[in-house]
Amino acid sequence: MQKKDFLYEGKAKIIYRTDDPVHVLVEFKDDATAFDGVKKDRLEDKGVLNNRLSAHFFSLLEQHGINTHYIKTISDREMLVKSLEIIPVEVIVRNIAAGSLSKRLGIPEKTELKKTVLEFSLKDDELHDPMINHYHIYAMDLAKPEEMAEMERVALKVNEILVPYLKDKNIVLVDFKLEFGRHNGEIVLGDEISPDTCRFWDSSSGEKMDKDRFRRDMGGVVEAYREVLRRLEGGENPAVEGES
Ligand code: TMP
Ligand code: ASP
Repeated sequence: MQKKDFLYEGKAKIIYRTDDPVHVLVEFKDDATAFDGVKKDRLEDKGVLNNRLSAHFFSLLEQHGINTHYIKTISDREMLVKSLEIIPVEVIVRNIAAGSLSKRLGIPEKTELKKTVLEFSLKDDELHDPMINHYHIYAMDLAKPEEMAEMERVALKVNEILVPYLKDKNIVLVDFKLEFGRHNGEIVLGDEISPDTCRFWDSSSGEKMDKDRFRRDMGGVVEAYREVLRRLEGGENPAVEGES
């Protein structure tokens, strides 16, 4: 595999072409943004941790039969993935009220939801990723009904896999965001699964172990991500490339 020219730079990742047209390389940056890029910082090693955490989650999901874009880890910041035609619909899965759901509906944070909630947002920073429903999705031809059905099925299956897996590591999976794309006529789970895109709470203390620490200026962001990785990998203190 050869890394070729730069294809696209997002807020947290850079995509490069490879010598194989069906594969691209994802490089995880240390950049952290919130509120559609209004709040910005560089958090040393965040990219390394998110590359490793995403690889861990994608491999776990593949073992459970989920079709993900992950192929293999290339370096401490890079993974090789299937090239997807991204569907510009973010799928949000919620188990416990937090963040924008609490704000929008007045449900106090930490309230356990009686049923898992699925939400959809249009992936468009300029419009601030507005929430949309199936009618908007079909009216804008963002995805077909059968594609939405598959995305919803996979999103709920991912939740069913990750909730008990994380519970066993003393982590509550509060909510998370997934992105999907098309590859060879199939719907494939893409993007990343990391504390940037999930809410993780420590089961005992309730302490936040995700990007809310950055959004709310709580400090200890990278330390929290590192602790999530340590619990997933079961080691004492995961060695992260670039550290001495
Ligand atoms: P929210 O409560 O702010 O709508 O976030 C719901 C979930 O989606 C949460 O786990 C964080 C994640 N998320 C992203 O991955 N990207 C985003 O741009 C936002 C706003 C949230
Ligand atoms: N991902 C969004 C941003 O970078 C918002 C967020 O995660 O809070 O601005």
